Amino acid sequence: MTFQIRPLSDALGAEVLGGNFKEALTVNEIDELKSAFLTYHLLCLRSDPLSPKSFYQVASYFGTPFMETTRKNWVGDVPEISRLESTYKTQEAKPKDPKFSRRSGWHTDHSFKEFPPKATLLHGHEIPSEAGQTRFCNTQKAYDNLPEATKQQLEGLMGVHSYDTERAPVRAVARTAEEIAETPDVVHPLVRTHDETGNKALYFNSNRTDRVVGLERRESNQLLDTIHERMIEPQYRYDHDWRVGDIVVWDNRCLIHSVNVDYPVGEPRIHLRTLIKGTRPE
Ligand SMILES: [Fe+2]
Repeated sequence: MTFQIRPLSDALGAEVLGGNFKEALTVNEIDELKSAFLTYHLLCLRSDPLSPKSFYQVASYFGTPFMETTRKNWVGDVPEISRLESTYKTQEAKPKDPKFSRRSGWHTDHSFKEFPPKATLLHGHEIPSEAGQTRFCNTQKAYDNLPEATKQQLEGLMGVHSYDTERAPVRAVARTAEEIAETPDVVHPLVRTHDETGNKALYFNSNRTDRVVGLERRESNQLLDTIHERMIEPQYRYDHDWRVGDIVVWDNRCLIHSVNVDYPVGEPRIHLRTLIKGTRPE
């Protein structure tokens, strides 16, 4: 074995030590990473900061990276990689109450798309001295531990995922008319079956899941609130403390995540990001 792979928590995640990600990995090494990814749902590859090209190479071990809609974040010669700066440059830029930041809402990336990304990779380039963790919950474990009656109740139920939902405490970035036309509501099962492992997991996004198909609003809200509460119980959770150079890759099919937005003003927080193509949730 080339790498050392160590679990990061009882809930999910493992760190990978001993890799040189500036160089191309061997087929065996790639297989080892892919298999650990399916076991732990999240890997933290400990690394030095990489160029966008090297980061793209790492991402491609997990599937096909694609370009995001927001062009202004694209990195010049590798448009599949976005540079995300989340530094608070002024006191006013920092939310007074973390609840009023969409980044702190529990979500699975881009679930308003018909084919949401199966995985996301973030690569830490500049990290504040405290807080700013990305937090994860294992929705496969949360599903496994549901009472049998609840599993039966959820069987076959579909959720409507919208670009925005009144259920979220803050509004999403406004869309142009063209963007509105490009982002119609989509419907995904509340319990999705992982297309590679066959395991079931809850599939819910507090920023995007608006309602359950066929239920009255009140009943739908109650059910979604229950799912939300069950998913974020502490035994399913791991908070990632970023180190410069970390490459974190996570499985959007069975994890939700959020950000601890309470980090210091004026300290740079910069990541590279890319998303990996996924299948339609079933
Ligand atoms: Fe996200």
